[in-house]
Amino acid sequence: MRPTEQCPVYESKQIREVTGDMIRPGGFAITDRALSFCSFAAGAKVLDVGCGAGATVEHLITEHNLHAIGVDPSPALLQEGRRKRPDLPLLAASGENLPFGTGEMDGVLAECVLTVMKNPDKALAECYRVLKNGGWLVVTDIYARNPDGVQNLRRLPLAGCLTGAMSIRELTAKINAKGFAVVLWEDHSKLLGELAARLIFAHGSMSMFWNSVAGGSATCEQMRHAVQKSRPGYVLVLARKTTP
Ligand SMILES: C[S@@+](CC[C@H](N)C(=O)[O-])C[C@H]1O[C@@H](n2cnc3c(N)ncnc32)[C@H](O)[C@@H]1O
Repeated sequence: MRPTEQCPVYESKQIREVTGDMIRPGGFAITDRALSFCSFAAGAKVLDVGCGAGATVEHLITEHNLHAIGVDPSPALLQEGRRKRPDLPLLAASGENLPFGTGEMDGVLAECVLTVMKNPDKALAECYRVLKNGGWLVVTDIYARNPDGVQNLRRLPLAGCLTGAMSIRELTAKINAKGFAVVLWEDHSKLLGELAARLIFAHGSMSMFWNSVAGGSATCEQMRHAVQKSRPGYVLVLARKTTP
C-alpha cells in the first residue's frame, strides 16, 4: 500500500486517543505564546489552515475573542468538529486554494499542517495573499533538527507530519521566499518529547505505536533509524507579510 492510500497518522485512532481534539504536540501552550506576540485586537480575523476538528478555532473565539475561521480538506475531521460545535465556522478547503479574498485576514495559523500538505509552497503563497499587509503568519510544526536526516523521513511509508518535516533552514527559506519576513523561530522540542512519552504510555513503546499506525509497512528498524538520524523537534515560527 502506498503512503497516500493509508489512513493519515493524524486521523488514526492510535494518535487521536492520546492527543484528543488538538492533533499536535503542546496543546494550546504554543498557540497562546504565538498570540502574545501578535497582539491581535478583539474581533481580528484569523484563519486556521488545516484546522482539523476545530479545537483551535473554538479556542480563538472563546478565549481570545477573535473572529476565527477554519479550513480543512478532511471530511472526517470537519464532521467531527461540526458535530461537537455546529456553530463553528469550519469550511472544506485546502491550504493551496483558500476561499478568501486578497488581504482579508489579520492572521493565519498553520499548526502541524505544512508538513502534511502536497504543496506547502502553494499554500504559503495563498497565506500571503489572504493576509493584510503587516498580518501575521504563525507556523508550528515538526522539523528535522539534523538536516542530513530529512531524506530518511521522506522515505517513510507513512502519511503524517514526520514524513514531511524539513530542516529549520528549509522551512524559514520557504516562508521568506513567499515575501514574508520571519521575525522569530523558537525550538519547543520538549513538547514533542512529552507527546512521545504519552504515546509510549498508551501503546507500550514507540515501536508498538509505529507498528500499529503503519500497519506493518514501515519496519521498526526503519522508523528508529529515521528518527535517530533526523532528530525530530518541534518549532514555532512567526512571520509578517511585508509588501515590497
Ligand atoms: C496534524 S493535523 C493538525 C490539525 C490541527 N491544525 C491541529 O493542530 O489540531 C494536520 C491537518 O492538516 C490537514 N491537511 C492535510 N492536507 C491539507 C491541505 N492541503 N490543506 C490544509 N489542511 C490540510 C489535515 O486534514 C489535518 O487536519
